[in-house]
Amino acid sequence: MHLAPSILTADFARLEAELEAAFEAGIRWLHLDIMDGRFVPNLSFGPMVVKSISPLAKRHGAVVDAHLMIEEPERYIEAFAAAGCDYISFHIEATHHAHRAVQMIHGLGCKAGVAFNPATPLSSIEELLPDLDLVVLMSVNPGYGGQRFIPSSVDKIARLRQLCVARGCPDRLIQVDGGVNTSNLPAVRDAGANVVVVGSAVYNPNQSVADAVAGLQAALG
Ligand code: DX5
Ligand code: ZN
Repeated sequence: MHLAPSILTADFARLEAELEAAFEAGIRWLHLDIMDGRFVPNLSFGPMVVKSISPLAKRHGAVVDAHLMIEEPERYIEAFAAAGCDYISFHIEATHHAHRAVQMIHGLGCKAGVAFNPATPLSSIEELLPDLDLVVLMSVNPGYGGQRFIPSSVDKIARLRQLCVARGCPDRLIQVDGGVNTSNLPAVRDAGANVVVVGSAVYNPNQSVADAVAGLQAALG
């Protein structure tokens, strides 16, 4: 099980220190939430920030995973590959040519993920499953950190894992993204998730990054 902090609720005035604290705590997967203010209401950051932090991640042997919550993601895939991403995930709802986008990501030497929103059915990504490296199941409506986990997501994770088995890719990485914390993490893992995004559960004013990560690891048992 990979814990993948999202830096969206980190202190951007101290970003290097926030990242170092996560690596010190044993984190080896970074989830970078890219928002364009169109596909989702919020505007976050772009390739320039990714380019500035990916060398630090690489020094710690950490995976850099960009979650593109942007319209027509094909426009920026090359820029995020050049910025040092290992995984690039785009939303199935944001493009007319998802298979071509997956080919583009692979052609640039990156691993390809497809994300889908809570109301989007599994059938929308089924045909892509054999070609993907990662499936991002949204357990909140995208756009902000600190939202509440949508409880029906646990059943959707289990059905997605069954679909991966049915489509001949039983070990496909399933990343669950949004509202995960110590209370729901065991159920998310048991339902079949391999990677769990943790934003406000790691970066929040109530506890240190070290204590937050330790608490999540303890919840996994
Ligand atoms: C939401 C993002 C998530 C979010 C995770 O649009 O895709 O990655 O930042 O933050 P938490 O864990 O606080 O929901
Ligand atoms: Zn995300």
